Amino acid sequence: AAAGEPLITEVQEWNQYPGEGVGTRPYGQPSQFEQHVVRKTVPWLTADAISSVSFTPLHELDGIITPSGLCFERHHGGIAEINSTDHRLMINGLVEKQLVFTMADLKRFPRENRVYFLECAANSGMEWRGAQLNGVQFTHGMLHCVMHTGVRLKHLLDEAGLRTSGKWILAEGADASAMTRSIPIEKALDDCIVAFAMNGEALRPEQGYPLRLVVPGWEGNMWVKWLRRLEVGDQPWQQREETSKYTDLLPNGKARRFTFSMDVKSVITNPSPQSPITHGKGHTVLTGLAWSGAGAISRVDISIDGGRNWKTARLDGPSFSKALHRFYHEFDWDGSELFLQSRAMDDQGFIQPTKDELRSVRGANSIYHNNGIQTWHVGKDGVVENVEIS
Ligand code: MTE
Ligand code: CO
Repeated sequence: AAAGEPLITEVQEWNQYPGEGVGTRPYGQPSQFEQHVVRKTVPWLTADAISSVSFTPLHELDGIITPSGLCFERHHGGIAEINSTDHRLMINGLVEKQLVFTMADLKRFPRENRVYFLECAANSGMEWRGAQLNGVQFTHGMLHCVMHTGVRLKHLLDEAGLRTSGKWILAEGADASAMTRSIPIEKALDDCIVAFAMNGEALRPEQGYPLRLVVPGWEGNMWVKWLRRLEVGDQPWQQREETSKYTDLLPNGKARRFTFSMDVKSVITNPSPQSPITHGKGHTVLTGLAWSGAGAISRVDISIDGGRNWKTARLDGPSFSKALHRFYHEFDWDGSELFLQSRAMDDQGFIQPTKDELRSVRGANSIYHNNGIQTWHVGKDGVVENVEIS
């Protein structure tokens, strides 16, 4: 700041008069000066807002927790508005006794709190054949990470009594799309949670109020919102979302199916097209996010020259398995053009591939499960663009 600036020397209005008293904002909202920090849509992407997506503004956030009101939304039949007192969860199929729970019933089981990322399998899908959308919000914003509170799915299945022939679970939503996905019993018994809270308060309607399934590390589509029914069966149900959708057509004409886990991935959130460098050359803070459906992030490397040279970034904040991790890299920008990349590694030994490496295995026809390395071009003027280099 410059010496003698009126903002320093003059007494400002907010310094002269008292502000609004307590209680005028019973549910707090962000500052009026942060109104640009919102979820955004890409209108041409989908035919109708009822089955569409809004994207998390990753370039405006820090740390690892996504504020509830900024979590991206993906609905196949709009937002179901359900009064929690009218909500029921049913368990049927290969169980000793079929059960129906009210929300009050569910809250009498032991609870757990867990921080997990949720990534739509289609995140970065538009980038499969080359750089397309100019903003990290749109290329990587089908991603959120919140603390969920709920009951282990295992406790509910134990209560119903699993038959030994029970090998799969069908999770069904109460929304107009009646979203249904088949989940292997090993996963259901391992770490799945039937959640009623996010970030300490009741789920938001957009996130499935009053009840959603949390399927840690696995594709977002399986995290059924407005969860109303769990059926136990001996094989997968072959629903639309696991046959025509959420499959990957390979070069040999066959399709990969039941690709549940989200692969190790990272992205630089700042600088990025929506967050250019405006301070000119000199000390520059680069930051971003890394995550893996297989475990925790062990290392993130940064390149400012398009992958020729790499430096290890600084991870900061808590490191939870299957959650977002925050990284920083501070460097002196000499004002020349840059090609920024980040490459994540997880504690299971997985390394994020380049987009070319990914396409050499998966071909050109995929949409889902694009975990390729993202490149941002920084011009001499600090303007940032989505590019691909080979
Ligand atoms: N559950 C129901 N009942 N209906 C839906 O449309 N969309 C799925 C999943 N669960 C969906 C659903 C998809 S494709 C994703 S990516 C996630 O919810 C999105 O979760 P979010 O809206 O909390 O971001
Ligand atoms: Co999705």
